[in-house]
Amino acid sequence: MEIIRTVAELEARTADLRQQGRSIGLVPTMGALHAGHMSLVKRAREENDIVVASVFVNPTQFNNPEDLRTYPRTEQADCTLLEQGGVDIAFIPTAEEIYPEPDTRVFDLGPVAEVMEGAMRPGHFNGVAQIVSKLFAMTCPTRAYFGEKDFQQIAVIRRMTELEGFDPEIVPCPIQREQDGLALSSRNVRLTPEQRAIAPAIAKTLVSSLDWAKTHNVEQTKRFVTETVNSFPHMKVEYYEIVDGKTMQPVSDWSQTKEPVGCITVFCGDVRLIDNIRY
Ligand code: PAF
Repeated sequence: MEIIRTVAELEARTADLRQQGRSIGLVPTMGALHAGHMSLVKRAREENDIVVASVFVNPTQFNNPEDLRTYPRTEQADCTLLEQGGVDIAFIPTAEEIYPEPDTRVFDLGPVAEVMEGAMRPGHFNGVAQIVSKLFAMTCPTRAYFGEKDFQQIAVIRRMTELEGFDPEIVPCPIQREQDGLALSSRNVRLTPEQRAIAPAIAKTLVSSLDWAKTHNVEQTKRFVTETVNSFPHMKVEYYEIVDGKTMQPVSDWSQTKEPVGCITVFCGDVRLIDNIRY
């Protein structure tokens, strides 16, 4: 596996590969890799001639400096996993390399970015759009892979892709879970043993809400999920929304969407966990 740390080198290398007619699969990550990321790498490996994975903790998408400071950074272990996963190029730049000057671009991401994460984390999606647009411009990937745990992020990236006229296929990949159902996340390592034991209640509650939803309306289903999760020690639901899976707009009646998706964020202690489920 080749490790590239500069933008100029990545641009030259990928331009060369494209000229040779090779397809390029891009897997953007913030490192602290786990089996969820590796499922994206596996899919990219199956579908492309060349796999590029980026490892970059993007400062512009953190609206909380403490979250940025404590975000796990495990470069060596990440490289080992990427190499084992068959990645051809790991792009691991510094923040100065990506942002030699502050990125002042403001993307018109529209309604998909205004609700849920967009409302709770001002500026977060603009930061995601900044880094992903830079990665797309540098790599010109044929396909780009994103995990469905960050369900809303995929809609935002589709919107940015359309706005900026990029043409990679955006490939959403299913959430990977621990055996007890907890969605894999780089933040899970920050849970205390006691919190870790309780955290699977999020996924379990979402799954049990599938049955509940058959005989209850949207409001009742939201209340069921929120109250059940909040009844566990350490857990505080930030929001639970049932939205249309394409527009991300909250629905108040099941008939308003063909693709209802429940999106939750929960503080387990001070660790912010997210998950979602399709009804
Ligand atoms: O989902 C993530 O890990 C990040 O938001 C991404 C897409 C790598 C951009 O920094």
